[in-house]
Formats: sequence, structure tokens, C-alpha cells
Amino acid sequence: MYYPDEKVEEVLRANNIVDVVGSYVHLQKKGANYFGLCPFHNEKTPSFSVSETKQIFYCFGCGAGGNAATFLMKYENFSFQEALETLADRAGIALPKMNYSEEIKRREEKRKLLKAVNKETAVYYYRLLRSPKGRNGLRYFADRKLTAGTMRDFGLGYADGASDSLVAHLRGCGYSDDVILEAGVAVFDEKRGLHDKFWNRVIFPIMDVRGQVIGFGGRVLGDAKPKYLNSPETEIFDKSRNLYGLHIAKRSRAPYKILCEGYMDVIAMHQAGFHEAVASLGTSFTEGQAAILKRYTGTVLLAYDSDGAGVRAALRSIGILKKAGIEAKVIDLTPQKDPDEFIKANGPEEFRKRIANAENSFFYELRMTGRDYSMEDPAQRTQFHHQIAIKLCGIEDEIERENYLREAARRYFVDEGSLRRLTASYGRSGTAQKVWESGGDTNRDAAEPAKRSRTRTAADARTERDERFLLTWLTDQPEIFDLISPHLRPEHFHEGIYRQVAEGCWKILEKKEGGNPAGVIAMFETGEEQQEAAAMFSNRLKGLKSAQDREKALRDILISIRRSAAARERKMIENSGQEPSPEILRKLIDDKRELQELQNIRFRLPDAEGGQ
Ligand code: UTP
Ligand code: MN
Repeated sequence: MYYPDEKVEEVLRANNIVDVVGSYVHLQKKGANYFGLCPFHNEKTPSFSVSETKQIFYCFGCGAGGNAATFLMKYENFSFQEALETLADRAGIALPKMNYSEEIKRREEKRKLLKAVNKETAVYYYRLLRSPKGRNGLRYFADRKLTAGTMRDFGLGYADGASDSLVAHLRGCGYSDDVILEAGVAVFDEKRGLHDKFWNRVIFPIMDVRGQVIGFGGRVLGDAKPKYLNSPETEIFDKSRNLYGLHIAKRSRAPYKILCEGYMDVIAMHQAGFHEAVASLGTSFTEGQAAILKRYTGTVLLAYDSDGAGVRAALRSIGILKKAGIEAKVIDLTPQKDPDEFIKANGPEEFRKRIANAENSFFYELRMTGRDYSMEDPAQRTQFHHQIAIKLCGIEDEIERENYLREAARRYFVDEGSLRRLTASYGRSGTAQKVWESGGDTNRDAAEPAKRSRTRTAADARTERDERFLLTWLTDQPEIFDLISPHLRPEHFHEGIYRQVAEGCWKILEKKEGGNPAGVIAMFETGEEQQEAAAMFSNRLKGLKSAQDREKALRDILISIRRSAAARERKMIENSGQEPSPEILRKLIDDKRELQELQNIRFRLPDAEGGQ
């Protein structure tokens, strides 16, 4: 973390999370908390809560949570630093100059410069399109039925026939040739020197998720080759970690994103009201892009071209999406070629129907594999059935596999029992997965997440739940800290994020000078960790109406945590294979005594009811 903890806390204290979140989400007060529709998943009844006392947000629907900075990180896709800077600005707090190393400083400066050049270039082409010199470009877009509003939303532009007008313009703005070249908008050769990369092309600026221009695609107006010219990768333009249209699609509330192949497809879908569309950037879809999509959705619908190349690309992308833990479906666009043409020919309503009927990727893969076999020929038919069995083997979940098996048997007229036996035979040989995947490109580790060994036991999960309960309770009713602190220390919590959060809480509560969970959450660097930490402060502690119930619940929770800690300690000693030292022996005896005391203790709990 770049800023000192005190500064981070000061910035968080100066911003009320209710105001910060409230400027994005409509919130209504209900009891102690505020509620609204969660901006991170699609829902009709509010399960997104903001606690003013704890200064955190938490969604009971999707588990998104954190402090005000986490919210901005998630919503605006800011880094922690950017979120903190935004909050500091909001509160009029000056942040200290950061302790960057010289190298990082230089790189940041360079990135800023390259972004400035790209932005200036976008503005230049944008204006050119709307000037008398842009007539051809404007006519081209009009022929493709784009409205002025759509052209504005995507910042479309035009590079006219002159081959060094942009370079001249950028030089005029004071940018050096080196920077112009490095920004990817110009090329150099001995004969012509530095000259524009794009000319006689309509221009599609490519923006990062925050809407900042990082590169361009330029399309010829006619049929010349290459059809599209794209900026090269630069310091700010990583084609494998950005998606065209994501700066708009990230805000879409649809429970899925649509992934397509072309810039024009994204734009056409957007104009037809499908704001959830994104495309890769003139290269094939990558794992990095899948990981980014995963932040926004669990389901991706593929709207790839319906030709052979489109099918191959779709099969490949399905593998990558699955590997990232995303459910993939495929939109059938036949008899049209791509989403742009489909919408032009059939209209948005028909497209909506195709979305609703998007095909599950499993059956899409089978259907496409099936096209290579002649079903009239018994030998080929058999081979295909083997392919089905092999594919079924790849499904880890037994119930899911059985459901797919029945459906596949029905669709392809195979006897269910035979298919089950065949599948089982491949399952035993263990090669099935490999056989199938070797045909499917990067799909190799598709089943990996499901297989990951579970080292946490059910008992661990139960105590972790108790630990979360206690942390929520502590932040709801800090008064109980004095009651429990003689019996419990952070070291008794599960190692990792649980213990870190507990340590943070203990630190705040021991100081007794205020501070709240938002500050504890700020100890963590990544959004995921912050979210996990927030989840610990956001449990429902209902159903503990009477003082007696609550007293017993508290004691049970403490005992459970202490027991589990002691068990882990014993296991560690056993695993070490060594005789425990006198200190450790003493500690074990102390543990035992403390646990016994705990069983007989009676807490005098304050009256107020904890929980949400
Ligand atoms: P398509 O050929 O499907 O183009 O390429 P399109 O998007 O449908 O374009 P229109 O409708 O003919 O204008 C899909 C994507 O592949 C990349 C571009 O990103 C394009 O949007 N591509 C294609 C290139 O980078 N270079 C090319 O020469 C062609
Ligand atoms: Mn097209």
C-alpha cells in the first residue's frame, strides 16, 4: 500500500460511504442500514446494503462488499490508489506525494503522455469526420445505418487522404516524434519519414474499461485489403487485456455479456439496445480477456460469425471461457453472417429471441462435432457416440453429467444405458478428458477447478462461519469486546485473511478511539480480499432475541473458535514429529484451562440486539 495507514483512514473517515455509494445507487433507509438494487448483479428486489455505522457495503445476493474505496474500485474499475485519490479529492484532502521509485515514476509519465497523444488523435479524427473533409466517412457510416448518437457514443472518426496531417497536428501540440511514434498512431520509414498510420479510413477509437482511448482500428471505405488496420500494442494498449465496448458494457445490468468478433457488431448491438456487447481486438479471444469478463459476469453469450471460421473461433472461445469459470452459450445468427447484419435484416426483437434461445455450449460443441460425421454410416455414427461419451466424461458434477447424458441420448437417438456404460468406460480409463481436449485447443485444464483438492474440512468451514459471526457481532456491538478479549486473541482465528481481519479489529477496539471496519478493510490490497473482509462484517445475526440466547450463542462461538485453534495446534505438533518443548506444553495446558473456564463463564451482555 502506497499511502500510510493513518492517511488511508483519514480519507475514509472524511467520506461517508452512504454519500459515495448514494451517488451511484438509489438507496433507501431501512432500519439501521440503507438498501438499494445491487449494481454488481442483476436483481429486482434490493439486497444491496450500506451500513453507515460500519462504513461498509455488502450485497446479500452476490456477496460484493467492502468499504467506500472498494466500491469505487469495483464500480469504476479503479485501482486502490485511484479510488483513494478520488475519495481524497471528494473530501478536499491533499494526499502526500507518493514514494515512487524513479523507474515507476518514469513509466507513469510515459503512460500519461501516450494516453494524451491517443486522446488528441481521437479528438482530431472525431472532428475531421464532422468537417467538410469528412464527407466520405460520414456517408459510409450513414450507409451502415449508424445514428449521430451512436457515432458520438463510440467516438467514431475519420482519417482523410492526407498522409501526414495527424503527425503535423500532433507536432503542433508539442509532442515529440518519439512519443508520436510510440503512441502507435504514426509509422516511420526512410523515404517518407514519420507519417500517419491511418488514412482514408473510418476510425474506431479503442477505449479501456475507464473509457480512455488506448488505440484505434481503421476500416477502409471499400473492399481494399487489409479491411481493418489496428494500432500496434503499446505501453498502454494490451490487446489481450482489453475488450472493445467494455467501458459501456460494464454498466449493463443484463445478467450476461455478449461476446462478438467485430467492432461494427458491438456498435450495431449497442444501437439496437444491447449495451452488454463487447468484442476482442482484432486478435483471437484470450484468457486475459476471459478473466476480465469474469469480473462482470458469470455468463457469456457468443455472437460469432456463422461461417466456418466463426464456428472454429467460437469453439475455441468456449474452452477459454469455461476455463475461466464462465458459462458459455452460443447465439445462432443463421442465415445471417454476423450480429450487425442480423439486426439490420431482422430487427432487435428477432435478435432478442435469438438471445433467449442461445444454445448451451455443451450441445453446441456436440452439434458442431456431429457435422463431421455421417449419421447414416454405422461406423461413423458409432464414432460420434464415442465422442459424446468422451465429452460427458469431462463433466465433473455427477448430477449435471447425468442430466446431459439423458438429454444427449434423447437428441442423438442413443440408448441411454449404452451411453452411460460407454461414458463410464472412458471415465475409468482416465484418458477421455485428454482425448477430447487435444482437439479443443487451449481447453486442456477445463476440469481443473472442479478437481482442486479440498484441504479445508467441513469443521474448518463451520468455525470460519463462527469467526465471521463474531467479527460482525464485534463491529455491531463494540461493547462486547471487553467481555471477550480475555478469552480470545487474533491468533486463535484461522490463518490468513481471518486472522488479519481479527488483528485489525483488535487493534481498533483496543485503542478505543473509534475507527471502524472500513479501516480494517483498507489493509487489504486487492478488491477480492477487501470483499472477503467485508463479508466478515456482514453476517445476519437474527433469531437471537432473548438475552439468554445471545449469551449462549456468544459462548458457543468462542468455544468453537478456541477448540478449533487448539485442534490445529495439536495437529501441527503431531505433524512436526518432534517432542513438544516445555513452552509448548505449557501453552497446551493453558489452552485447556482457558477452554474449561470458558465453558462455565456467564457473560453480562449489553441489551441492544446485534445484527442487521
Ligand atoms: P470481420 O471481417 O468480421 O469484420 O472482422 P466486421 O467487424 O464484420 O466488419 P464489417 O462489418 O465488414 O465492417 C471482425 C474483426 O476482426 C478484426 C477487426 O477487429 C474486426 O472488427 N479484423 C478483421 C482485423 O483486425 N483486420 C482485418 O483485416 C479484418
Ligand atoms: Mn460485419
